[in-house]
Amino acid sequence: MGSKFLTNATNLSKHIVSQVVKAGDCVIDATMGNGNDTLFLRKLVGSSGKVFAFDIQTTAINNTKALLMVHGLHDSVELIHGGHEDMDLYVHENIAAAMFNLGFLPKGDHQIITNPQTTIQAIEKALLLLLPNGIITISIYYGHEGGLAEKDAVLRFVEGLNQREFSVLKLDFINQKNCPPVLIAIEKR
Ligand SMILES: C[S@@+](CC[C@H](N)C(=O)[O-])C[C@H]1O[C@@H](n2cnc3c(N)ncnc32)[C@H](O)[C@@H]1O
Repeated sequence: MGSKFLTNATNLSKHIVSQVVKAGDCVIDATMGNGNDTLFLRKLVGSSGKVFAFDIQTTAINNTKALLMVHGLHDSVELIHGGHEDMDLYVHENIAAAMFNLGFLPKGDHQIITNPQTTIQAIEKALLLLLPNGIITISIYYGHEGGLAEKDAVLRFVEGLNQREFSVLKLDFINQKNCPPVLIAIEKR
């Protein structure tokens, strides 16, 4: 038996992405934060692949750089100090996956949060870059101020995606307290 993956949105999103991404792929971490997903993606794509990671906070860039260095995995990763809504300016190849982790930086400034308009712009751009059979995961944390509005806006957007082009899944941990994050997974057909 492998490790449990139904414990939370983070583990489940990693499980889903690991079924799709392989060595040599190009992928995006849309919300770098402390770098956990960046490191996870770098391990999947290997030194022959490429991870583009975005964040608007210097703290996130520094924390992620430090985490990658500790693991000796800082090659093949581009840490971009900029908004994910501008990903098309940096990423010029198709991607196998993109991971979004919405909300604020854990142990960071809780006032700096992802916002509905730029999040949806970024999802639209990631969908354009996505290869057939590629996956986008979106973990929606919404317990903070402004979080509910973002959750509603993102759900409205993904519910409207054409089913002939995309399969869209919503996973809710329905017996957990305190606004457990909702996980969205989008597969391009
Ligand atoms: C929930 S945290 C991400 C956690 C991260 N995945 C990890 O493993 O630690 C959300 C991050 O999104 C970042 N963020 C907010 N607006 C952004 C934007 N427009 N583009 C990219 N990142 C953004 C925040 O600065 C914050 O670090």
